[in-house]
Amino acid sequence: MAKLAPSILSADFANLERDIHDIEHNGADWVHVDVMDGIFVPNISIGIPVVQAIRPVTGLPLDVHLMIDRPIRYAEQFVKAGADWLTIHIEADQPANILACLDKIHQLGCKAAISLKPGTPAEAASVYLPKCDMVLVMTVEPGFGGQKFMADMMPKLRRLRQMLDEINPGCILEVDGGVDSATCALCKENGAEVLVAGSAYFKAADRQAFVRTVRA
Ligand code: DX5
Ligand code: ZN
Repeated sequence: MAKLAPSILSADFANLERDIHDIEHNGADWVHVDVMDGIFVPNISIGIPVVQAIRPVTGLPLDVHLMIDRPIRYAEQFVKAGADWLTIHIEADQPANILACLDKIHQLGCKAAISLKPGTPAEAASVYLPKCDMVLVMTVEPGFGGQKFMADMMPKLRRLRQMLDEINPGCILEVDGGVDSATCALCKENGAEVLVAGSAYFKAADRQAFVRTVRA
């Protein structure tokens, strides 16, 4: 069964507690938190105080997706704020710093993940894969919710599964961007185990039915 991680980027920020309770009540698995710095991506969203504030509101794992430049600068603060999973972009720093950041996340007792932008090939991830608990394949350009799903990322998803099966079979695959009740099937067929959905979850007329469809 796949897992669904609704992204609070599409939540009502004035009613974040209500929307997070709703995610839990509707049977979703994780809460996805999109952190943007206006440098790595052309948008600014939420940060450490918000992770800290929502931590006591839910028992669900917090899946924190850092779309920030040189994430090693802030990894510790996000783990201490309550992240269960911390995802960093491999395009956001030099390889030595990305590797050091993954080690740091593990030392702090958190699960570590890397993410790849659409233009980044699967092979660019190979050096990091032994240190990852999860790999996130972006199916839109990071920065904004509500964009169109890029089906042409599916071969990359399959390729990463193949690479992981050889060197780190316990590592899971996540997809993020444009996932809805139709595109989720394609993601699962191609190896995605955790699916992020922002606008499709929050706009669904029947959110519980949406959760069931994605998890099925
Ligand atoms: C995009 C974010 C996504 C976003 C997904 O940069 O990483 O998590 O919230 O939103 P939808 O599901 O609307 O594409
Ligand atoms: Zn995300």
